[in-house]
Amino acid sequence: MTSMTVNGEAVRFHLDPGTPLLWALRDAANLTGAKYGCDSRGCGACTVIVDERAVLSCSLTIGQLEGADVVTIEGLSSERAHPVQQAWAAEQVSQCGYCDPGMILAIAALLKASPRPTEAEIAALPNICRCGAQPRIRRAIDRAAAAMAASGPPNAEPPISSRFSNGSSPEEQKATQ
Ligand code: FES
Ligand code: FES
Repeated sequence: MTSMTVNGEAVRFHLDPGTPLLWALRDAANLTGAKYGCDSRGCGACTVIVDERAVLSCSLTIGQLEGADVVTIEGLSSERAHPVQQAWAAEQVSQCGYCDPGMILAIAALLKASPRPTEAEIAALPNICRCGAQPRIRRAIDRAAAAMAASGPPNAEPPISSRFSNGSSPEEQKATQ
């Protein structure tokens, strides 16, 4: 059993510790925002935030994450209110949308760590967009950075309960809350 916090809720995964976080989230916790793209650290579609850093969830096992604090796109904000999500909409970034969750989380983590990111920091993001939305993504980064500078960092809004089907019993779920 591996315990961690996911989107503000205590979760126990009754899975092999070698299970990649991506599949624990998608298959056990029913959080399908993180996407499977390449399984080889090459696309960023699986990005989530762990302990305030963007990570590739295909490349971390849950056994490495005992006690970690995980945020997925489902838990980034309520009502899609995070400045990066709002910038995404304002710049009409989405095309197919497959890269969006990972890209948004990677940029949210970047802007939190580096409110005025350099071109090198932006270029270092591991996320790719196969639809060619990079110019709109770039504008969305600038828009979100400006909004965050104007209003301060967004409040973390934990989420929303009872969505996990992670194998924990109701008693176990209650015991961890
Ligand atoms: S699925 Fe492509 S980097 Fe994880
Ligand atoms: S919008 Fe399709 S991969 Fe980015």
